[in-house]
Amino acid sequence: MSSMIHDGLADLKIDLNYYHVSNKTGFMLDHPLTELPAYFKPWENIASSVASLIERRELRNVVLKMPLLDHNKLTGHRQLRLAHLQLAMIASGYVWQDGDVNVPKVLPKSVAVPLYYISQHLGIQPILSNVDLALANWNLVDHKGPMDFDNLACIYHLPGGAESDWFFIVNFMAEYNFAKCLEPMVNILEVLDNYQKLPVGDVTQRDRIVDRLVKQLDGLLAGILDMQYSLTRMHDKLAGETFYKVIRPFFGGWGGEGGPMPDGLVYEGVSENPLKFCGNTGAQSSTLQLLDTLLCVEHDQEKRDTILLMRMYMPTAHKRLIEDIENRKHKLRHLVTSSHVDSLTEAYNKSLSAVVKFRTGHLQLVTKYVLMPARKLTQDNVENLDLKGTGGTNLMPFLKGLKQDTLDATTFAQRRNTYFGLTFGVLVAVAASVAVGLVVRLVAKK
Ligand code: HEM
Repeated sequence: MSSMIHDGLADLKIDLNYYHVSNKTGFMLDHPLTELPAYFKPWENIASSVASLIERRELRNVVLKMPLLDHNKLTGHRQLRLAHLQLAMIASGYVWQDGDVNVPKVLPKSVAVPLYYISQHLGIQPILSNVDLALANWNLVDHKGPMDFDNLACIYHLPGGAESDWFFIVNFMAEYNFAKCLEPMVNILEVLDNYQKLPVGDVTQRDRIVDRLVKQLDGLLAGILDMQYSLTRMHDKLAGETFYKVIRPFFGGWGGEGGPMPDGLVYEGVSENPLKFCGNTGAQSSTLQLLDTLLCVEHDQEKRDTILLMRMYMPTAHKRLIEDIENRKHKLRHLVTSSHVDSLTEAYNKSLSAVVKFRTGHLQLVTKYVLMPARKLTQDNVENLDLKGTGGTNLMPFLKGLKQDTLDATTFAQRRNTYFGLTFGVLVAVAASVAVGLVVRLVAKK
């Protein structure tokens, strides 16, 4: 049953389970499996040695000997997710084993067929993406220990050793931190509905609700700041060149100008025509898209097109959560800007500023891990490089634009309140002068 039945007036409370979102791990798959039934051992054997097979340039030969297994024998969401992770890792390694030279035009059917149909079943794309690398490839070293930088590990590994694992561990942590935003988010949406139901004159109840909203926004803020802190930890154990030269190549997509496969990749046994998909990128994470939606950060159509494209790489239920919140009748920004309560505007702006801080830190990562190594390699001024993200975006204009839009949402609320303050001030002054005029006239008459 949908948790979002519209009665024309308000929306029902959000049930996170319905959207396959966990209060504990957020969008990350809760308790991901680390093994499939014995029948699927050939996939697991290759997936677990992808990094060393790539380093020895042996992966392609091994994949060519891999048997075609029946993916219909998989049961349940967790098995499907693990199988997607294994096959997508194998596919990426197969294609990019030698970098962007000698890139194959065809993905063998032993990988292509199960990867394609499992993806269809899950409502995601048949390529290595955020849904695998950030949400399903995690494990705890000590199963009784906490979700923390020191206790998280990858199930499967890309080349790059401990540095590569660190890149993913930081991603896990950022996703995990987001879970802290979920309860405040659900409560904020509920408060918005309740506020609208109150009679306009019920000032006490309205004040009480505004107080609750401020508290929930503080909770949201704490989660965003944790995410932002996690990003800063990337610098601890990952060097710029390792990311750019060793890890990033495996995030490549197929299809699109400038790449070695402009027409895409043929999925043998699926389609004779090549298929095009974007590569792995954090832009496929549901976290920031959800925060933008809740905080009513608006982006122009060009950026929105990219955002919607990236949404196709999210699990169906996560995509639906963002859409359902987008479609809710009562918007946070409307309440903030129409209630004219300073504490509320402040709390709202603080959350937006934390998102700006996240995006600023993220831009620093992109400069260090993509722009600087690219500059070194091309001996060029990065400003002149038409650099594309692995998600296919013109990365700097896109990322800077998103940050600016977040800043704009902040000033919007301030402007509205300043405007209200000024208008109110002028009205008071006019009313006062009219009153004084009346009194003067009355006194004069007497
Ligand atoms: C070495 C670290 C990282 C680099 C080099 C990097 C690079 C990029 C690039 C180039 C984009 C532009 C989209 C595209 O690929 O076409 C992007 C987008 C994005 N990345 Fe990262 N990323 C890093 C770490 C992270 C982490 C840890 C997260 C955590 C969730 C993250 C979340 C995002 C998000 C949400 C976007 C969409 C833009 C936004 O909403 O501001 N990234 N990233």
